[in-house]
Amino acid sequence: MSSSAIEYARQNHARFLEELKAFLRIPSISTLPEHNADCRTAAEMLAIEFSRIGLQNVSLRETEGHPLVYADWLHAEGKPTVLVYGHYDVQPPDPIEEWIAPPFEPTERDGNIYARGAVDDKGQVWAQVKALESHLAATGSLPINVRVLMEGEEEVGGEGIEAFVASRPAQLQADFALVSDTEMFAPGLPTLCVGLRGMIYTEIEVRGARADLHSGMYGGAAPNPFVALAQILARLKDDNGHILIPGFYDDIIPPSPEELAAWRSLPFDEEGYRIAEVGSAQLVGEPGYSVLERTWARPTLDVHGMPGGFIGAGAKTVIPAKATAKVSMRLVPGMTPEKAFEQYKGFVAKIVPTGVEVEVRLIHAGNPCLVPVENPYIRAATRALRQVWNQETVFIRSGGSIPIVGDFANYLGLPSVMMGFGLPDDNLHAPNEKFNLRNFELGIESIICFLEEAAR
Ligand code: BES
Ligand code: MN
Ligand code: MN
Repeated sequence: MSSSAIEYARQNHARFLEELKAFLRIPSISTLPEHNADCRTAAEMLAIEFSRIGLQNVSLRETEGHPLVYADWLHAEGKPTVLVYGHYDVQPPDPIEEWIAPPFEPTERDGNIYARGAVDDKGQVWAQVKALESHLAATGSLPINVRVLMEGEEEVGGEGIEAFVASRPAQLQADFALVSDTEMFAPGLPTLCVGLRGMIYTEIEVRGARADLHSGMYGGAAPNPFVALAQILARLKDDNGHILIPGFYDDIIPPSPEELAAWRSLPFDEEGYRIAEVGSAQLVGEPGYSVLERTWARPTLDVHGMPGGFIGAGAKTVIPAKATAKVSMRLVPGMTPEKAFEQYKGFVAKIVPTGVEVEVRLIHAGNPCLVPVENPYIRAATRALRQVWNQETVFIRSGGSIPIVGDFANYLGLPSVMMGFGLPDDNLHAPNEKFNLRNFELGIESIICFLEEAAR
């Protein structure tokens, strides 16, 4: 291990953490237009930091949404090139009253740093940046060539970065990508994520009467769009969680028997997961599949919210003119967003109750991905993780989505090393999001070692 870069990281850890707090104070919520300026501030903070630590060609690249940040350092002649990826945007903090400390006032408690974006993904981005800084400051160079590309729209589908990657710019020529936006399977257990689900995020809008109506005067004769919407939603899935859209499961490529066997040997306690992570009376889902299979290797359909109608306190007797539902489907390898959306839209059109009209809109889409594990960069990553964590790496998939990982593979032919340092109880997208401070520290050291191992 490079003792000098690691030593630099250890000596500067307190400062690294203070800087991360400053990054976390910027409410870069990509989905809320009132935070557009904050997103730009976060992008600028990254650009300033990239220049300060000695990266070159630092630039903000405009998109139709929030800017990309690019930088590189290409002086490791004859060595491979890594494309380092992360996102500086965060999810909205609501419900705000559930936070113990305010979401954009980072707070240390019991070995964690709490803030929106702590683990997803600002803390992990900062670990990447600090690993680069440690090499540059300790040795004046990097072990391999590095390009850095950060986006500010991951949480809203990543349209801007996809367009950039799809144009296959010379700036993105690399041998592999390093993505730090995933979790470890358990505390202290070094983990590489080798598969992600894709998704389609949609909206169903149901329209009935020309305007809102008095439910006493018209109830019984006028169609109710919320009832119609509920009927549509209820027909999408059966009681076992099986999706009823015809053909939906046709193209799925199931995990190999070897991969399933490896999942069975992971330290997974289903009852502990139910109680501590999910907190529901029972787990649900397709019979015959383990929880890991259900969340990693089977598609799902979820409803996120049903805007419209009367949602204030108290009662209002109205038949709303329209109702909407936000519905997403997670897709697994073999499925494509295009085909899944056509199948879904076609099926919804067939089950529209009488008296209403329905429109199905696609909000964003991303491909599922599986990364090949037989490549030198994955092997280098396991060597690096062994040095830092003193343990063999486990390979997992995740049920979440990072659309750009599929795009890196499809447009640039890049395998991604998804080396992430989140923990299962980090409350991603939820109140009291946190990042374990030890994981921040060892995450930096892991990336320092990985860059060295990738040079071998
Ligand atoms: N970092 C997550 C994805 C993730 C979560 C990977 C947990 C591995 C473990 C990412 O920021 C995310 O939340 N993605 C969205 C993508 C969507 C909005 C296109 C998701 O999965 O909902
Ligand atoms: Mn993320
Ligand atoms: Mn996220």
